[in-house]
Amino acid sequence: MKIDDSSILVTGGAGYIGSHAVLALKDAGYRVVVIDNLTTGFAWAVPEDVALVQGDIADQNLVEQTLREHHVRAIMHFAGSVVVPESVSDPLKYYGNNSAKTRDLIESAVRVGVPHFIFSSTAATYGVPDRSPIDEATPQLPINPYGMSKLMTEHMLRDVSIAHPLNFCALRYFNVAGADPLGRSGQSTAGATHLIKVAVEAALGKRDHVGIFGTDFDTPDGTGVRDYIHVSDLAAAHVLALEALIAQPRSNLVLNCGYGRGFSVLEVLDAVDRVTNIKVERRLEKRRAGDPASLISDNSAILAALPWRPAYDELSQIVADALAWERKLSDGHPSK
Ligand code: UFG
Repeated sequence: MKIDDSSILVTGGAGYIGSHAVLALKDAGYRVVVIDNLTTGFAWAVPEDVALVQGDIADQNLVEQTLREHHVRAIMHFAGSVVVPESVSDPLKYYGNNSAKTRDLIESAVRVGVPHFIFSSTAATYGVPDRSPIDEATPQLPINPYGMSKLMTEHMLRDVSIAHPLNFCALRYFNVAGADPLGRSGQSTAGATHLIKVAVEAALGKRDHVGIFGTDFDTPDGTGVRDYIHVSDLAAAHVLALEALIAQPRSNLVLNCGYGRGFSVLEVLDAVDRVTNIKVERRLEKRRAGDPASLISDNSAILAALPWRPAYDELSQIVADALAWERKLSDGHPSK
């Protein structure tokens, strides 16, 4: 459904997942405005025909002016801090950037009367779940401040949706990876810690090895198992969630975003070797603090609620797109 002269506000639209959402919205015919403070995002990641407002989501004057000027019909909220270990060493940064600032953003939405809000939540809100696959009714018991800061926002949105004319969708992401298949965006932050990004960097000689963090988990091969989802499938889910919120303004949605299947660290590294035709050096290392053995989504809710059908759910495609983007960065993309 395309909407007259209204826009969708994408916070964090210059970042990894947000920039893919901007592309998906544009491809679907929506007008988009981005607000990003560019602390971890890149201005070049925002397409030229999309307005980029450089600023903070908690700057209510700026946000409310933007909401009014651009006739914002819905907010997709990606801006925030995302590094789990950092959240342990600096929890107040996470409660500030992810919880407190989001509270201010939601208040701006309510004041201006924006009716729809789509929120980047995370599987980290489940902590170490007592079941696999994980459905949305699984108790949310985060084990780090990152997960807790996101869970607090889910609670805020639920309460606000009861008190005010705003409905919301919380999308709980599993392990997001890959890059736009057309090469328009990808994961560009330096010092990445995510497995697929780290592995393709190693394949291109940007690192000399990949550490395998634990080989004694209770999994088939002893390494950690995750449900890797292609960032463009995730971006598509956001557009469909937006359309569902518009179609059913009295309903909220809380949906896992994953493919419902897991790959171990060794399976991921094998895929990287196959796709790159390079044997990346592997070193067995100790477990990383707080890593659960396995996180696999039950994705039946999203499949039932939205007409979402994954288009890029082959691990080899996720790796190939991540690799193509990594090559682009090496070849002097604007981020360099
Ligand atoms: N791993 C390695 N070596 C590495 C990097 C990762 O062995 O160099 C392993 C990890 O131990 C884990 C798996 O690969 O078993 C995936 O690790 P990532 O760091 O790629 O991702 P995480 O599962 O730790 O966390 C990600 C996001 C979180 C989110 C979580 C939800 O970073 O924000 O998924 O599932 F909350």
